[in-house]
Amino acid sequence: MRFARRPVVTVSIDSLHFIVPIKTGNTVLTRARVTYSGKTSIEVEVVVEAENSVTGVTKRATHAFLTYVAVDDNGDPTPVPPFNPKNEEEKKRYAEAGARRKARLAQARSD
Ligand SMILES: CC(C)(COP(=O)(O)OP(=O)(O)OC[C@H]1O[C@@H](n2cnc3c(N)ncnc32)[C@H](O)[C@@H]1OP(=O)(O)O)[C@@H](O)C(=O)NCCC(=O)NCCS
Repeated sequence: MRFARRPVVTVSIDSLHFIVPIKTGNTVLTRARVTYSGKTSIEVEVVVEAENSVTGVTKRATHAFLTYVAVDDNGDPTPVPPFNPKNEEEKKRYAEAGARRKARLAQARSD
């Protein structure tokens, strides 16, 4: 929503991995970044880390890619701003996201 400045709905979640457990007393750190935008959809990568609150050691606990679609007042898809990757890292992630999008849509069509 912060990127689109519109209400968004989740249309897809893929590559959801639970890597280590989050234990009672851990601090949970959640980071999310836009990796790709289409006409009305946005891919967001979410990384959740479990931090041992005493030692400060963090471990990646969960990782996922979520696709959101911006919607208008009728709930129909509405355009989002373009995501312009700025540095090499962002460009790499953008290219990878484009490939994921193709695979995701092909999968959705075949379901
Ligand atoms: C999301 C929704 C508005 C899309 O409507 P739609 O009529 O299928 O829209 P379109 O076919 O025009 O697709 C709109 C965008 O969604 C993308 N999309 C559609 N199905 C998708 C899927 N399964 N995975 C990823 N992206 C998808 C399209 O690629 C398109 O993106 P683009 O504009 O960037 O190219 C509609 O499917 C919906 O309301 N779904 C329910 C959402 C919901 O209830 N979420 C809550 C889950 S907790």
